[in-house]
Formats: sequence, structure tokens, C-alpha cells
Amino acid sequence: MVRRLLKGFPPAETRGPYTGIHTNGDKGLIDDGSDRITFVDEKIEFFHFHPTCQAETITSVSSSFTVVPNMITEAEEEMLMKEVEPHLKRLKYEFDHWDDAIHGFREIERSRWSQQVSSILGRIRTTAFPDSCQQLPQTHVLDLAKSGVIKPHVDSVRFCGNIISGLCLLSDAVMRLRHVELKDQVVDVLVKRRSLYIMRDEARYNFTHEILGEEESFFCGEAVERGRRVSVISRNQPTEESPVDSATQS
Ligand code: OGA
Ligand code: MN
Repeated sequence: MVRRLLKGFPPAETRGPYTGIHTNGDKGLIDDGSDRITFVDEKIEFFHFHPTCQAETITSVSSSFTVVPNMITEAEEEMLMKEVEPHLKRLKYEFDHWDDAIHGFREIERSRWSQQVSSILGRIRTTAFPDSCQQLPQTHVLDLAKSGVIKPHVDSVRFCGNIISGLCLLSDAVMRLRHVELKDQVVDVLVKRRSLYIMRDEARYNFTHEILGEEESFFCGEAVERGRRVSVISRNQPTEESPVDSATQS
């Protein structure tokens, strides 16, 4: 059972004029066949900082949330789906409980994988977690129906440490981060199909995260088509340094 702590359900943002794009300025190398090798700035925009964002929000989210586009190939996505689909298919999507953090989902947790999938998960783990950290043995697979939504919540600090990584399969989506106290500090993140996101420290503890439903699924005013979306989520164990939860939880 994955623990999530619901933090209210704020109304949809009014999408004002877009101002604060932040770019993941990955430097890439282009070998054009000549002797020259050109550096390019691949400005892929994954963050949309809402106009009300303070500089501190931009700094803290940019340093504690990472998106790795194309973390896996199409063939690897297919391989992962082939392995999880039979287990997911046995379950029904849950739509009943509106007070739950997630609506329209089914989920499994697994610790045994084929060798091929283990090697993909190993790659994700070395990308997302430092060697020193103790990961949870179970990988969580969350299947969100096309009409499903993940409402704003913070993952339980009792059951999960400072790092959460999610590999996104089958559909692009928009993840919205909102500061738990400063409600106008809102950042949208474009989490594309086959990308990996890594949410740590400030983004993990000080912001709620949510996946926008199909009606709300816009990034910088552009519709992001939502289909069925499966995420493969790895987490680490809480440590002694992890914050303790002040709210009551089951
Ligand atoms: C969760 C969650 C995000 C995702 O399961 O707690 O926030 O990408 N999932 O599916
Ligand atoms: Mn979560």
C-alpha cells in the first residue's frame, strides 16, 4: 500500500500569460561528419513557472526536480509494459473514493523482475539515487486511466525518504507542483512519455505534486493529450535525517 498524504485540492489555475519558462540547458554534441564537433544548447522546456513564482521557488525547484527525457527506448517501454500488464489487468481501475489522493487508477508493487527489466530499473536507480542510499525493495507501478487524476499530495514521510523517481510510460502528462504554504507558488512540469523525473528534498517535501486530469492537461497554454499513463516509481527509505511528519497519518 503506497501512502500519500492529501493536502487539499486547490482549484484549477487560471492560465495567465506565460512568463517564466525555465529551460533544462543540456549541452549536447553534434557530430556532423566533418572534423568540427559543435556544441548545442538543447533547450527543452520542462518547467513552467507560473507568473507569481518568486525567485526562490525557481531556484529551489530547478535544483531539486530533474527531468531526463527519453530515459528508455520504445522497445524498452514495450518490454516493461509486457511485464506489468498481466498483473495490472487483473485489477479494476478504482474510481470510487473521491477523498483518496488518486482517482481512476490501479497499482501494483513488485520486487521480482526479468533480467532485462532489472537492468532498465538498475539504470534508473543509478541515475536517480546516490550509491549510499537505501532504496525501497519494491518498485511501485501506478496505472492511471485516461480519465484518472492524481490530486495534490505529499508522499508520506514515514514510508518514503527524500528521493522519488518516476518513469513515465504510454502518455505525456503535466505534473503540477505547488508550495505547501505559499499556494501561489506553482510550477508545471512536462513529464513526457519515456522520460524519468527525479523529485528530491525541497520539491519532495515542500511542494505537493499532482498529475492533471485530461480536462486540465495544459502546459504553457498548450494542450497535452492525456491517455492511459503508467508510471514506474522508485523511492528510498526514510533515514534519521528525514523530517518527521507532524500530521496524523494512518
Ligand atoms: C504517487 C504519485 C506520480 C506519478 O503515486 O504518489 O505521486 O508519476 N505518482 O505517477
Ligand atoms: Mn506521490
